[in-house]
Amino acid sequence: MTEYPSSNASSTGEAPAYGTGDATYQAAGGLDGITRLVNRFYDNMERLPEAAALRAMHPEDLTESRQKLVFFLSGWMGGPKLYARHYGSISIPKAHAHLPVDQSSRDAWLHCMAQSLLELDYPAPFRDYLLQKLAIPAESIRLMCEFHQSQPGSTDP
Ligand code: HEM
Repeated sequence: MTEYPSSNASSTGEAPAYGTGDATYQAAGGLDGITRLVNRFYDNMERLPEAAALRAMHPEDLTESRQKLVFFLSGWMGGPKLYARHYGSISIPKAHAHLPVDQSSRDAWLHCMAQSLLELDYPAPFRDYLLQKLAIPAESIRLMCEFHQSQPGSTDP
């Protein structure tokens, strides 16, 4: 019998592991769940004092930021590739290279996400899994941004 991590098995033992097919997308609640998560994430970014510098990097109107993150996460979690369909291909580190991201804004981004996952009552194993996975592109962004900032004359996007 196939063994799944106990923390990730449904009561029937049939749930595929997160990261397999669209299991992560389904566990997030599909597009509705991701939309709720992203909305809560940006609401938290607006609300939490420790996210003030992160918020200041964003446009005043967050409508497009919300939409783009929902579309991106849909494909990234194994669901429909909505970002590619609507906006074309994207390299996440390069899309952020013009921003002054450092350790503290990276941590603030992850904190807003952690807080949102908690508030929306996702199970702990899913929260832990997703945060670990999100920490990977978040760290790539930080490295890309710090490299970009270290280059002479790197003020252009
Ligand atoms: C390291 C922490 C992060 C910071 C500080 C950050 C910051 C930002 C900011 C300020 C924007 C808006 C850019 C603009 O309008 O000019 C943005 C856009 C975006 N971010 Fe992040 N972000 C972070 C991590 C992530 C992660 C981990 C993901 C995906 C898993 C992500 C996905 C996106 C996407 C898809 C967009 C829209 C890009 C576009 O179409 O131009 N971000 N981010």
